[in-house]
Amino acid sequence: MKTIKKGLIVLLVALVLIQFYRPEKNNAELRDVAAFEMETKPNTEVAKILKAQCYDCHSNKTTYPWYTEVAPVSFWIGHHIEEGNEHFNVSKWDTYNDKKKDHKLEELVEEVEEGEMPLSSYTWMHGSITQEEKEALIAWAKKARENYK
Ligand code: HEC
Repeated sequence: MKTIKKGLIVLLVALVLIQFYRPEKNNAELRDVAAFEMETKPNTEVAKILKAQCYDCHSNKTTYPWYTEVAPVSFWIGHHIEEGNEHFNVSKWDTYNDKKKDHKLEELVEEVEEGEMPLSSYTWMHGSITQEEKEALIAWAKKARENYK
């Protein structure tokens, strides 16, 4: 019994201490999606879906709900954002060449078709996308790919 109590205290202290470590945030002053949207031309509906479901992990600015401030959740989420942006960052769209842009949109169609994106850990808190929203995203991305043929 004593060791359980000790263990709990150690865990509690660790949880408190870990709060002092804050992962670096993805929070540019402005969410820079203009170049991407100008080129790929999402309609209002698609732009809304991208904003609500994708840009938190695929742009230079994340909106952080309160629970993402609490460690260890903050680390876990920070990692998703970092990795998501490494693969696909719309704020860096104009640094991609045409081949890369085309490939990213191709990946996007696949990820959305297979239900891989948005990440399930994200939709768990933000709500998932509907079948119609999926179809709208896919149709838009396929059309946008024609820019890079
Ligand atoms: C919670 C963070 C998060 C959200 C929200 C999110 N993604 Fe991702 N995305 C990732 C991570 C992490 C990866 C890389 C690992 C993987 O492929 O599973 C990724 C990979 C991708 C890739 C693959 C790029 C490549 O080159 O392989 C595409 C495309 C993509 N996401 C599109 C989207 C779209 C479209 C949405 C919205 C419908 C979205 N993502 C929402 C985190 C996220």
